[in-house]
Amino acid sequence: MSAFPADDPVLVTRRQAMDQDIAQGTREADLAAIARRVLPGGGFGNIEGDAIIRAGRAGRVWDVAGREYVDFLLGSGPMLVGHAHPDVTEAVQAQVANGTTFFASNEHGIRLAEEIVSAVPCAEQVRFTSSGTEADAYAMRLARAFRRRDKILKFEGGYHGMSDYGMMSLWPSKPGNFPQAAPDSAGIPANVRDNMLVCPYNDLASAVALIRAHHDELGGVIVEPMQRLVPPAEGFLQGLREITAEFGIPLIFDEVVTGFRLAYGGGQTYYGVTPDLCTLGKVIGGGFPLAAIAGRADIMAHFDRGIVGEAGFTPQIGTLSGNPIAAAAGLATLAILRRPGAYERIFANGRAIREGLERGLRDAGFAVQVPGEPPMFDAIFTANPVTDYRSALAGDAALSKRFNAKLRERGVFKSANKIYISLAHDEADIALAVAAFADAARELREEVG
Ligand SMILES: Cc1ncc(COP(=O)(O)O)c(C=O)c1O
Repeated sequence: MSAFPADDPVLVTRRQAMDQDIAQGTREADLAAIARRVLPGGGFGNIEGDAIIRAGRAGRVWDVAGREYVDFLLGSGPMLVGHAHPDVTEAVQAQVANGTTFFASNEHGIRLAEEIVSAVPCAEQVRFTSSGTEADAYAMRLARAFRRRDKILKFEGGYHGMSDYGMMSLWPSKPGNFPQAAPDSAGIPANVRDNMLVCPYNDLASAVALIRAHHDELGGVIVEPMQRLVPPAEGFLQGLREITAEFGIPLIFDEVVTGFRLAYGGGQTYYGVTPDLCTLGKVIGGGFPLAAIAGRADIMAHFDRGIVGEAGFTPQIGTLSGNPIAAAAGLATLAILRRPGAYERIFANGRAIREGLERGLRDAGFAVQVPGEPPMFDAIFTANPVTDYRSALAGDAALSKRFNAKLRERGVFKSANKIYISLAHDEADIALAVAAFADAARELREEVG
């Protein structure tokens, strides 16, 4: 028998009190005040503003004041199949009752690794972490251990987590000269810049020239196959593949966002280019903390002291790596995505919402680009094509901010710069969003004249 049956009087009273708070709108103000006192910046650092979310189901979320939103944040991407999907909930609940973490290997984690190997072209072997940041940091270290060289080439504006290396030339407000990397955070040791090279995304000629010039110092090249909202130009990823292969430099695709989202096999399947290593996150944890490094067995061998010996070995340890709850959630999520029509539905939802967004803004007279692919995109207020970090930076950020605030007022929840699409978004969600785009754009036009 459960220690706390559903009709436990203490629980019932607590629930009633919470509902009352919500009805009176006091809980939100109280929590916001506590948050401002105990959290730097009044929040978790993840998203601007003070939204406090209480619940999510399918394509919607509710805040603590009871407001309902169509959710295009999706937990920053993991909830591709929607919040609280019954299959994921059931898989997690079944495992919770049997223990939540063991540090030792577990069956769900082994089966998830097997599924990743069968789905992702570059994946011969897999190792788990709890976050994409860790996965990227390990992938770069693994490449350096394999190549026995220190430098990593990344692309300006590429997001590879919050490590010292990941934070180089991630979001410079005043971009500098290529290929000099610059830190986008205080607290990064000055010498990190000596071990990074930076190149404009989608500029294959520059990348090839840099790699040729520095091949003997390079441990690896890391790239988001679709960088933020910017898809790769024709031949860009293929060209990177060819030049890195020529010098035996590991090519790492950061697929934390694109993995299992652009296609079941990720960006490498969608764009048809296979890297040597990739990182995965978000979707593979089904809403729980789990990410992975996957790739060629001879490179992954550097996680195995027995194969490479002490000198080539790089340890990879994490208390919750591959924990059975996250692995069960990930497996259940991937099973949903394997069902016939899943990606067609995600893409159809994305196309409808993207068209509505673009139409709403254009009809109101705004010059916008809506770069991305159907599972993720956003509007950038600029008349010029967006092909890399600097052209995206040229967009009018103040207008975006005002537009996003108006969307929030109209029941659309999103981050500052991305719309994530879910399999669970339905016709009502799409209709609400498209109406909100048009109405918010009209009002913004009235204000800016
Ligand atoms: C492309 C990419 N890589 C890495 C990360 C870091 O993942 P995490 O937030 O799980 O550390 C993110 C996070 O959004 C990402 O978008």
